[in-house]
Amino acid sequence: MSRRLGVGLLGVGWMGALHTRAYRRLADHYPDLDVRCELVAAADVGESGRRRAVEELGYARAEQDWRAVVDDPDVDVVSVTAPNALHREMALAVLAAGKALWVEKPVGRGLAETAEVAAALDPGAVTAVGFNYRTVPLVEHAGAALLGRKPGWPPGRFSTLAGFVEPGETLEDAVRREVFEESGARVTACDYHSSQPWPFPASLMLGFRAQAASRALGPGDGELAELRWIERGQMRAGLTAGTLSLPPAYSVAQRLIRDWLDDDATR
Ligand SMILES: NC(=O)c1ccc[n+]([C@@H]2O[C@H](COP(=O)([O-])OP(=O)(O)OC[C@H]3O[C@@H](n4cnc5c(N)ncnc54)[C@H](O)[C@@H]3O)[C@@H](O)[C@H]2O)c1
Repeated sequence: MSRRLGVGLLGVGWMGALHTRAYRRLADHYPDLDVRCELVAAADVGESGRRRAVEELGYARAEQDWRAVVDDPDVDVVSVTAPNALHREMALAVLAAGKALWVEKPVGRGLAETAEVAAALDPGAVTAVGFNYRTVPLVEHAGAALLGRKPGWPPGRFSTLAGFVEPGETLEDAVRREVFEESGARVTACDYHSSQPWPFPASLMLGFRAQAASRALGPGDGELAELRWIERGQMRAGLTAGTLSLPPAYSVAQRLIRDWLDDDATR
């Protein structure tokens, strides 16, 4: 008979849903583990998060107070996917309860908080910090690139799309999924281009060149304030005139856009 693992989730946002999908897939990916995850309880201060936990993600119940999840004797492992400012307090409570902990990065808001959590670890504690690879695709179609603006960016600043790799996904599938989610564009092919390191273990920004089937766009997931197909000529003119700008020079996103511009200087 397989071993039951009771799952508790603190914070039912984007990352909370991702952790939940990982627990659901555990038995399929690692059948030899012989583990069966049971989604016991999730906590969120927001009513919509609590409803989502039960109706969409499949938790048996949802709580407003995260401590009720940590203290539940049926919960064996707790995912901390709430905002950064809560990680320290939540992680310490999970460790004090003697449960396995999967805490999203950053563990603390600085060295002192992170060291405090590290100091609370018993030798037998089962813990993990969540890091994810990030894909950064430059999506092209017949001489134009699909670029987006995030809310809060200065007017005229555009960059490539970007997304996180989910558990059980290839890098290419992550590119296809993220591009479709953010823009509705269908990627037909993608190739690795180059990478940008992040100062976290197991964290890399992976740049891709991707081809779209057409310039058709959908409603997207609302992450971007603006999404545009920009022709090479328009981009060069905009950069010269100062009406368009790019992400920082060290970023893989700028390198992808500059290489795309250099592909054919006459186009
Ligand atoms: N590993 C990675 O690469 C990666 C990527 C993105 C985000 N993250 C991390 O994941 C964490 C969550 O990010 P997100 O994008 O899912 O944010 P999010 O805003 O989508 O979700 C956070 C959720 O926590 C809930 N929350 C707030 N206060 C709470 C409380 N007191 N008790 C319970 N729930 C509470 C919010 O209502 C929200 O639903 C952050 O720490 C972030 O740094 C990591």
